[in-house]
Amino acid sequence: MLKKGIVLAGGDGTRLYPLTKTVSKHLLPVYDKPMIYYSLSVLMMSGISEILILTRPEDIHLYEKLLGDGYALGINIQYLAQPSAGGLPEAFIIGEEFIGDDHVALILGDNIFYGSGLFDFLKKNIELENGATVFAYKVREPNRFGVIEFDKDNKVVSIEEKPTFPKSSYVVTGLYFYDNNVVSYSKSLSPSVRGELEITDLNNIYLSKNNLHVKFLGRGNAWLDAGTCDSLLEASEFVRTLEHRQGLKIACLEEIAYLNNFISKEKLIQITETLYDSNHKKYLLNLINEN
Ligand code: G1P
Repeated sequence: MLKKGIVLAGGDGTRLYPLTKTVSKHLLPVYDKPMIYYSLSVLMMSGISEILILTRPEDIHLYEKLLGDGYALGINIQYLAQPSAGGLPEAFIIGEEFIGDDHVALILGDNIFYGSGLFDFLKKNIELENGATVFAYKVREPNRFGVIEFDKDNKVVSIEEKPTFPKSSYVVTGLYFYDNNVVSYSKSLSPSVRGELEITDLNNIYLSKNNLHVKFLGRGNAWLDAGTCDSLLEASEFVRTLEHRQGLKIACLEEIAYLNNFISKEKLIQITETLYDSNHKKYLLNLINEN
């Protein structure tokens, strides 16, 4: 069972400058909560309770202030520095000790996933025996991502990183489940022309060994990133619209911890009592009373 996950919250967020001149990108608000809540919620919904957050050395204390050691959420959170943007697979090299002999998930801290049934979908796909599992999503501008090429029988032939001429509209999202080989495979990679280790090269190693599982996130699901000014605002609008209409919150970490049995009702009550009066507190009080 995959129990460990890494949230990659590093980088300088240059596309969001000057918003990110003094604030770490993954702490910026996406409507009513910090961006990192959304990726963290996906790991928690997958049943992952041991989490490593990688961020710039100068920002670690801010994430610690926000999330602590995870006790209030019934999970364990550790922090390590990613001193410079060396690419996504660097997470498995920096996190080698955290991973130990286990399987591990990786999620990009600016990715937002939402969909009915996502909870069950993630739980089902996390049970990988070995190999890697990635999630494919249809987008309008595939050239911005890792693009999946299929043969005529819909078998995956290759993944190309940001190709000028994409061979399909299906791209790899920023959520990955790997077996323990991920550490040694990551160490074997060489930097690409942009000077970084590429997750696409890592996934192509699994593919060459016939061990890459591609799962499709269907059209009822939303996959957003919040890495540019426009996508940040769009993500906020998306969350606001859904939350207003349904009265249900997306990525409310205390709620997810409770529904996932990471914390008991008594602990949820205790935590809620310590919060400032806010919509967040009101929401949790409703949840407690409804149950
Ligand atoms: C990275 C990966 C790319 C993937 C994308 C998902 O892109 O390299 O393959 O499709 O994340 O968000 P980057 O964030 O480096 O632009």
